Amino acid sequence: MHRPDWAPDSIDIERPSVARMYDYYLGGSHNFAADRAAARAIVDAVPEAPLVAQANRAFLRRAVQFLAEAGIRQFLDIGSGIPTVGNVHEIARRIAPESRVVYVDVDPVAVAHSWEILSGDDTTTVIQEDLRHPERILAHPEVTGLLDFSQPVAVMIVAVLHFVPDSDRPDEILRTLREALAPGSYLVLSQASDEGRRPTEREDVEAVYQRTDNPLWIRGQAELTALFDGFELVDPGVVWVPQWRPETPESAEDAERAVLRGGVGRLRE
Ligand SMILES: C[S@@+](CC[C@H](N)C(=O)[O-])C[C@H]1O[C@@H](n2cnc3c(N)ncnc32)[C@H](O)[C@@H]1O
Repeated sequence: MHRPDWAPDSIDIERPSVARMYDYYLGGSHNFAADRAAARAIVDAVPEAPLVAQANRAFLRRAVQFLAEAGIRQFLDIGSGIPTVGNVHEIARRIAPESRVVYVDVDPVAVAHSWEILSGDDTTTVIQEDLRHPERILAHPEVTGLLDFSQPVAVMIVAVLHFVPDSDRPDEILRTLREALAPGSYLVLSQASDEGRRPTEREDVEAVYQRTDNPLWIRGQAELTALFDGFELVDPGVVWVPQWRPETPESAEDAERAVLRGGVGRLRE
């Protein structure tokens, strides 16, 4: 199989990657046959999968707009994926050109492509690191060099937590991140959720993701809300992502089809 320039030799292009599957759903070009096959298997189980990716990306865009308008100028986007149109830095800079953004992803292709598009940009950077090691992220020189943790930071973990099983203690991960944040900081979360959806779907989807490096952990409304511990939820709380401050009432219709729930919390003072 042809290996394009942006794909480092170290990556196994025969094994599906969730970053590249997500890129495929968004209509991007940074994916391989194995990714497309796995993504199509997901579509067989959940036909609205591409819609899920698009609805999530739209939630991320509205959340960043909200944060930038609330005065946030620093963003730590963990599990940032392959940056296609509408990245955090593009959205934030439209409102505040001085915004600084650190992207973090565990996937080498996502990181390689991010490097490619961010090269020469002094206020945005990317590191390869794992959300399950928040202390390493916080201590990374690129992070401490660009972000000032004595000032508010928005931590974005969008469509990522469902790749972190309970055994990896997402509550502890979030606590470590929270303890590093200054008053006025924010947390943005979205993740696959299942109440109100077809009962067998959890098994179908989890079975497909078992074949990737990132098995899927679906969480309900209460579990996701609990992960905002220490943060005060901004209206409208944890909802299906199209229901989070929709631009038009129509865009929030049939919101459960988006599969992901999400919310934004402000650090309690
Ligand atoms: C569905 S994409 C979401 C991308 C972006 N946050 C968005 O919402 O548009 C999930 C991303 O999380 C990354 N990821 C999965 N597990 C991770 C982990 N433990 N640490 C960091 N990134 C992770 C994947 O590589 C992938 O790029």
